[in-house]
Amino acid sequence: MPDTNPITRLARTLHHRAAPGFSRALLAAARVLRLPVVAAGTRVDDLALEWTRALWQAELWRGNHWLGMPILQWPTDLLVLQELVMEQAPRVILETGTYRGGSAVFFASMLELAGVDGGRVISIDARHPASVRREIQEHRLGSRIQLIEGDAVAPETAAVARALVGDEPGVMVFLDSDHSYGHVRAELEIYHRFVPVGGYLCAFDTIMKDLWDLPLGEPRWQTDNPHRAVRDFLAAHPTFEVDARRNRLRVSFAPEGFLRRIA
Ligand SMILES: C[S@@+](CC[C@H](N)C(=O)[O-])C[C@H]1O[C@@H](n2cnc3c(N)ncnc32)[C@H](O)[C@@H]1O
Repeated sequence: MPDTNPITRLARTLHHRAAPGFSRALLAAARVLRLPVVAAGTRVDDLALEWTRALWQAELWRGNHWLGMPILQWPTDLLVLQELVMEQAPRVILETGTYRGGSAVFFASMLELAGVDGGRVISIDARHPASVRREIQEHRLGSRIQLIEGDAVAPETAAVARALVGDEPGVMVFLDSDHSYGHVRAELEIYHRFVPVGGYLCAFDTIMKDLWDLPLGEPRWQTDNPHRAVRDFLAAHPTFEVDARRNRLRVSFAPEGFLRRIA
């Protein structure tokens, strides 16, 4: 076990020296006094960020699947997205960035489990390779997924999305395509219009602002990132706000990326 701080070290020693009562009392006191019981001086927020950076650098977010489809999401984010689907019961989830279909199938499965009658996913990508298109179509949940191929910020792509959404008011938006500042800022400008009051606009990979100095990061991410796009979008659109509760698990690829429409 890694070395922790003096309190937990002492609690372990007492426990092993047949004084479990003292050990428990010490930990109870630490709980009441809210003393840190992780490595001295570290806060949960700092640990969570360090773990997020470590898992990202170790590429633990690659190689995972949802119902047989490769997915590039971290489990805590999927838990929160599941909550949103259950709470919102959106009739349409509009996503940018299909990749290999994992997030589209994830959303389709949540709609199915939430019992959203006729609930569907519209998934946009610059390119849908034939194999991906086929796997999605042949998936058990494929009938809930509609694909649009094109640049997510091109007017013709947005027009197709608008036509497919129709006059459906219950739309949730999930942005996960090109993560450059300019692209995300443009996506937010286009797709926020689909979100009803009380609905959610999720901008992913805002975590890039904290990853630029890692070996797999890039220095330009200090400013060229989705988080800055979100900040600038919010400054221009006070009808949206960050829903900080959605980041309560700390480990997330979308810090301040869950935006709720309030007016
Ligand atoms: C991070 S991956 C999406 C991951 C997927 N949402 C998942 O959870 O598995 C980003 C995707 O965005 C697509 N993409 C990149 N630039 C784009 C653009 N301008 N318009 C639409 N899609 C784009 C890429 O082709 C890629 O498949």
